[in-house]
Parts: sequence; C-alpha cells; structure tokens
Amino acid sequence: MTTIQKDALEIKNLTNSELLELLTAEGELQQWLWQKARETRQTHLENQAVVRGVIEISNYCQKNCDYCAIRAVNTQIERYRFTAEEILAIAQQIAEAHIPIVFLQAGQDPQCDPILEEVIPEIKRRFNVNILLCLGERPKAVYERFAELGANSYILKFESSNPELYKQIAHTSLEKRLQCARWIQEAGLKLGTGNIVGLPHQTLDMLVDDIRLALEINPDFVSSSPFIPNQNTPLESLPYGNLNYTLNTMAIYRIALKTPLIPTVSALEKIQPGGQLMGFNAGANVITINFTPQDFQEKYLIYSQKRFVVRLNHALETLHQAGLKVEKLITQNYQAN
Ligand code: 5AD
Repeated sequence: MTTIQKDALEIKNLTNSELLELLTAEGELQQWLWQKARETRQTHLENQAVVRGVIEISNYCQKNCDYCAIRAVNTQIERYRFTAEEILAIAQQIAEAHIPIVFLQAGQDPQCDPILEEVIPEIKRRFNVNILLCLGERPKAVYERFAELGANSYILKFESSNPELYKQIAHTSLEKRLQCARWIQEAGLKLGTGNIVGLPHQTLDMLVDDIRLALEINPDFVSSSPFIPNQNTPLESLPYGNLNYTLNTMAIYRIALKTPLIPTVSALEKIQPGGQLMGFNAGANVITINFTPQDFQEKYLIYSQKRFVVRLNHALETLHQAGLKVEKLITQNYQAN
C-alpha cells in the first residue's frame, strides 16, 4: 500500500521509498502520476510547447564518455566541424521554419570557439532568435563570453548524480561538471541539466538521488533520457535504459519543478515508436527538430548508428496528438501525411 499523500503531493517531502515507488510506477499509479504532471503543465504553462531547431556543429570531442560514439578515442567515425557560413545557412532554415530557438550542439570542442565568436552575434542579428548551446565543460570565462556574445541558455547534463558512477563512465569528476553548471548560471545563462537512465551499475537508489540533485540545482530545463547502446563504444552490448523509469522521472521533474522546459528526447522514439508522444503525456513540453544536413547526421552518433532523427512533420504531428499549443507560425509548416 502506498503511503503517498495523493491530494497534497509535495515531491521534495517524499521519503526515498515513496520516490522510488513513483519512479518505478506502472499501471494505475503511473497513470495518476502522468495525469498529475499534465495538470501541472496546464496550470503553470497553459500547455504551451516549445520547438527548437538543433544544428550539430562539430563531432570532435575531448572527452571519452563510455556511452557516446563521438568520444575522442573512437577512430571509426569521420570527424567534421562546420564553418561559420555553413552554420549561418542552416540557422536561416530554422528561422524560415519560424522556429524561435537555434540550438548549437557539439562534442566538447574548443576549436569551435572562434567560429562561435562569429556566429552567435550574427545569428542574433540576422534572425532574432534565442540561442541555446550544448558544448560541454568549459572554463568559466568561456561561459561568460558565450553570454556576452548573446547566447541565452546552455545545457550541461549531470548524467548521473553518483560521483563514482559518473567517474567510471565519463572518466572525469562529477564535482567539476557541477562546478561548470554553477558557472553557467553565474554567467547569466539559463541552465539545462538532467540524467541518463540505464547506465551500467546504476541502481534505483541512484536514480532517486538523480531526481533530488535535479531539484537542488533548480534548472530552467531538465531532461531524462534512456541509455542507448552505441556502436564502437565500451557499452555497445548493454540493453536500452528502462523507458518507464525515464518517463516517470520526467513526470516527477514536472510535478516538482513546475515550470521548467522538459524535452521529449529522440532517444524515447528510438526505443519505441510513439515514445516521444509518451514523453509529452508524462509532462514534457519541448521537442527538438534536427536541421543538421543528412550526411553529417550520420556522423553525429550520440544515439547509435540508427538514431531516430526528428523532422518537422514528426514533431508537429506528435505535438498535435499530445494536444499541446505551438506558435501559429510554426504550425503553418505542417503538412498532414
Ligand atoms: N544514451 C543516452 N543518452 C546519451 N547522450 C549521449 N549519448 C547517449 C547515449 N548513448 C546524451 C547525454 C549528453 C547529451 C548530449 O546526449 O546526456 O549530455
């Protein structure tokens, strides 16, 4: 029997065993949890969804995270780094689709910095959009510079709240990563963070701690992604992360934090067709559309060789099915199949 006070649910006041019950919820309890997450989204965000357009600007990376195929030591992939002109041309396509957020993502690749010096102000000047970055762990001065250039927000996921597990899979310290997250906030950028569900040796207690850490950071965006085994990595033969735990974590983030942007990540769709709709049903309100040109998408292997690439139509269809509101201009791009 559950001890959870359903009428006065306060996530932060739950005991670890109550949180664990929600994390692993199935059947009726899960339906109730997701319903609560949707109600929270309705109350605090009026069901408004956010669409972002991502450009994967470089697949060079200094790090060697065991789950990721763009890790530095992987010699099996061809590396690329876009020029400023290439980035600006793709940003224009995002702006022309009336998508208000240009998301620049890369491995941890400081050689992108001179290019970003040019493109961040130029994207702002030409297209009047928000700029979101996901470029890894950088010195504090670099985050400050990105903010000065006009970037609005930055995603740096903690991946796992457990210092030993983090060290084991990412080969660098969690403390350093959390320090970087604080620098991002201090630089005046909005912060996105989150966890991966299904890392090797990850226990349910660690996933409960991930939720507590996310609440403590109080980020502007937060995500949970299922682990996807990736070719040419040390974890290539592991199973997918648990879909239910991932979706329940998203619902708990929504109920506890209320207003953050929560993406329904493409990894959910990769595990199960309709997975991103399930993400919206569990309280998400963001979907990212991929604008990286096709030949390069094949080289940006964060979610395995056969990654699911989100296109405009799939995103708009999923948003429509979820009953979420999108800016009118974006929906003009929608063509029913
Ligand atoms: N499985 C799940 N998430 C992954 N990421 C990268 N590779 C994987 C994977 N194999 C996520 C990490 C990273 C973000 C850019 O993508 O959380 O922070």
